[in-house]
Amino acid sequence: MTRILAIAGSPSHPSRTYGILEYATKLLQQEGLDIDIISVRDLPAEDLIFGRYDSPALIQPKALLEKADGVIIATPIYKAAYTGVLKAFLDLLPQKSLTGKVVLPIATGGTIAHLLAIEYALKPILSELGARHILATVYAVDKQIQRQADDSIQLDEELEQRLQDVLKEFVKAVKPSAVVSPELAHAN
Ligand SMILES: Cc1cc2nc3c(=O)[nH]c(=O)nc-3n(C[C@H](O)[C@H](O)[C@H](O)COP(=O)(O)O)c2cc1C
Repeated sequence: MTRILAIAGSPSHPSRTYGILEYATKLLQQEGLDIDIISVRDLPAEDLIFGRYDSPALIQPKALLEKADGVIIATPIYKAAYTGVLKAFLDLLPQKSLTGKVVLPIATGGTIAHLLAIEYALKPILSELGARHILATVYAVDKQIQRQADDSIQLDEELEQRLQDVLKEFVKAVKPSAVVSPELAHAN
């Protein structure tokens, strides 16, 4: 079984980035992938702030990460970078936790102006954690993501297409023998 861990880096709820991960999860499950989502806002704040590497709350996320073949990291842009709470979490991971894993970064921002934030801010950290296979970032602006009354999200057509394209690449990278299903295959 090919396993994926999706990490949601927003301190907010409801969250657009979390909504995108839920959308991605549905598509990837259809491809037969086994996916878990963790949200850094669910971890004990004190463990994150005080840098408690031995926090019992980290045992499960670390185990999921170790088993994962692919990792999706989704963050809102805060002050032209990823969020502080995501960094606090990444700081607690063992060295080289991302070695051998395919990594897909996803970011949402209020403005397109910070499109490159993931390239200059997040990617060096992913690289420090051992990631060598990092797919092209999916960056979305808020107006492309409409929140629904039930806290789910509706993506605009352009974003949906872009996300499907990159998820197709992600599936091929984590599961090279996969025959991509028509749902994703039509995303050309
Ligand atoms: C404290 C804070 C700082 C932000 N800074 C930026 C920023 O520098 N650039 C930007 O494009 N959007 C910025 N935003 C907007 C968020 O990135 C955007 O609304 C994002 O979609 C929120 O994602 P979420 O719903 O998953 O939390 C900021 C939002 C907050 C709350």
